[in-house]
Amino acid sequence: MPALRDTFMLPNGQSIPKLGLGTWQIPDGRPAYDAVTMALAAGYRHIDTARAYGNEASVGRAIRDSGLRREDIFVTTKLPAEIKTPAGAEDSFARTLAALGLEHVDLYLIHAPWPWSQMGTDHTAGNQAVWKCLERFHAEGRARAIGVSNFSERDLNAILDIARVPPHANQIKFFVGSTPMALIGFCREKNILVEGYSPLGTGTLVANATIAAMAQRYGRSAAQLCIRYSLQHGLVTLPKSTHRDRIAANADVDFEISGPDMAVLDGLTNTRARRA
Ligand code: A2P
Repeated sequence: MPALRDTFMLPNGQSIPKLGLGTWQIPDGRPAYDAVTMALAAGYRHIDTARAYGNEASVGRAIRDSGLRREDIFVTTKLPAEIKTPAGAEDSFARTLAALGLEHVDLYLIHAPWPWSQMGTDHTAGNQAVWKCLERFHAEGRARAIGVSNFSERDLNAILDIARVPPHANQIKFFVGSTPMALIGFCREKNILVEGYSPLGTGTLVANATIAAMAQRYGRSAAQLCIRYSLQHGLVTLPKSTHRDRIAANADVDFEISGPDMAVLDGLTNTRARRA
């Protein structure tokens, strides 16, 4: 499927498949192993995980067992949001590579600017210190590209102030009804590639009547419309599923949403499970 072969270019010149499998909330063991195995068999070449998901070992095993060449699979993982010290980052990255069973990752992200239990608090010094570690992992070739996730403009500026290597990517939540366009514009101005997670609003958008009705006009599912919407906004898009048929269908998105329909979707707010 062409959508699986399309790539964006990271600022370091590395190509990154536009569509990847998200693995948040897929338990370690059989579920994560099977989901990644099914995705690779369906033609996905981009897998997104995180140490905080607790499934790196199974994700890595599925990648290694796939028979595909390592250089043909783009693997992203993340430094836990709670770790804001150089020693902690060193230790965590070593554990991540050991769990994955890989010598390098293609993209390594700071998972969030604040520990999840302290959302919105300022950890500028910690993020700056940790960024210097990511720059070292990058220089060593253990992380081909480096970036951040859930970073606001203010959080990004704190990194840009001290960076020798500016972040290559910012992975943020992006779905119909949750579209931080100002932040996306800022990232693009700074040459930071934007990745969107939860393109289905963690599954709730498929129950939205407006989205479902529009999808039907295109002969597509609501999930496919939502994934296409994120791709058409120019974001790396990371739908998650554990079902073979959905994993395949979520990548079958080679159609075009019209300008007027994109505008309708842009105007939708409060989309979570809205039924009118
Ligand atoms: P499942 O893993 O059982 O398929 P998001 O990518 O926005 O985080 O959404 C993920 C959620 O959406 C999961 O609960 C997943 O469930 C569900 N999902 C994924 N693909 C589809 C699809 N094609 N149709 C309906 N639900 C889907």
